Amino acid sequence: MTSINRDVIVIGAGPSGLSAAHHLTEAGLSVAVFEARDRVGGRTWTDTIDGAMLEIGGQWVSPDQSALYEMLDVLGLQTYPRHRDGSSVYVTPTGERIIYDGNDFPASGRTVAEMNRLVGIIDDLVAEIGAEEPWAHPRAAELDTISFRRWLEDLTDDVEAIDNISLFVAGGMLTKPAHAFSTLQAVLMAASAGSFSNLVDEDFILDRRVVGGMQQVSERLAERLGDHVFLNAPARSVRRHPDGGVTVHADGGLECHARRVVLAVPPNLYPRISFDPPLPRRQHQMHQHMSLGLVIKVHAVYETPFWREDGLSGTGFSGSELVQEVYDNTNHGDERGTLVGFVSDQKADAMFALPADERRAAILASIARFLGPKATEPVVYYESDWGSEEWTRGAYAASFDLGGLHRYGKDQRTPVGPIHFSCSDIAAEGYQHVDGAIRMGRRTATAILDDLAVTSPPVG
Ligand code: FDA
Repeated sequence: MTSINRDVIVIGAGPSGLSAAHHLTEAGLSVAVFEARDRVGGRTWTDTIDGAMLEIGGQWVSPDQSALYEMLDVLGLQTYPRHRDGSSVYVTPTGERIIYDGNDFPASGRTVAEMNRLVGIIDDLVAEIGAEEPWAHPRAAELDTISFRRWLEDLTDDVEAIDNISLFVAGGMLTKPAHAFSTLQAVLMAASAGSFSNLVDEDFILDRRVVGGMQQVSERLAERLGDHVFLNAPARSVRRHPDGGVTVHADGGLECHARRVVLAVPPNLYPRISFDPPLPRRQHQMHQHMSLGLVIKVHAVYETPFWREDGLSGTGFSGSELVQEVYDNTNHGDERGTLVGFVSDQKADAMFALPADERRAAILASIARFLGPKATEPVVYYESDWGSEEWTRGAYAASFDLGGLHRYGKDQRTPVGPIHFSCSDIAAEGYQHVDGAIRMGRRTATAILDDLAVTSPPVG
């Protein structure tokens, strides 16, 4: 048994937990971080597979993500732009491949007009409702009790426009079918990126990458924390004491007594930890209404970025294809070419029902419908499968089921006694993104510092 005392114990060494730990340490508090995995970074994970450096988890940075940019500066990390020179490809619902330039899908004039109209309506809602407290808006209940798909269907009968608009929030972000989440949830997703127009603009939302990989954010934060980060230490219980403190037990006979605890894991994993006394009824209920989506992030590496020779950027979209989005994901300074594609929600279910070789063939055939037959012959092929990761269980992040956001949202960030919650899944700005994880880390650290400053000075 190893027993330690700290001001704050942080559970989870993803970007949120580590940035909370960083701010608390900078302010002079003593901190320990318990991490379940044998690595830090959580849903960011930069690894080398068959000789290719791959971003298995989160990777892109958009211009509005100022908290992440500040952290990259502090840690001495550089960014580089995603390759985007050349034309894009759109595959129509009938399977026609259309090469186009600019941001408008090359759909019929009517469909493009309908899409622009819908984007305008959602942008107006986003501007009015915002990301901080969407549940507080007078129309919250109305917008939270209709599915995004149904709401779009009430606005237009253009199915192609509906599929394309859905793609950006459903398959592209929440990774759930558009019938499974509310319009308010879609508004939150867009508001967290500034506007729906930003969300649908891949030049904005997928703007830059971190040289050397996004996981370095967590690795460098963990380096600073040194031996205060404990790996292979899944927290199993949080016991609250009458004096207001807590004891956290983790595997490996680890025990930490602390004044506050930061639960920096996605909400779907809260029930994996025993709380004594139990969390309040409302938290138990709320957490059951928050779930992660499902997406397969597919990496295919080629000897050369062959699509560039055909004048293509590597970008492809289709609301009806198996792989609904594909991008050039070639690493900084790499001669080989890398494509990344995404297979979401029910399409991912169908793929996981297949043997691995059939799944690979189906996915590569879909990418080939955007970029040509050479796409079927990568030298490295890898599928990020976060749904089977014990300490994540889905991707990219959590969202409420229909009606959950206006019902529970206001309590998702509220501490329970000494227990604080911090993760990208409950962020406002940067929701579901590394930026939101870092914002939540900073916000949680500030709340703890305010709280402890009034009760007593830091120990140690
Ligand atoms: P995160 O899940 O990262 O960290 C939580 C940590 O807690 C993990 O390390 C976990 O092991 C640990 N843990 C869980 N239970 C525990 C327990 N009981 N005890 C101890 N430790 C425990 N974002 C972005 O900005 N740009 C992008 O391009 C993408 N793309 C993307 C692709 C894919 C495939 C994924 C999966 C995710 C993204 N994201 C993204 C999202 C981004 O990666 C995500 O929002 C952040 O990593 C969330 O950080 P958190 O620290 O909140 O949780």
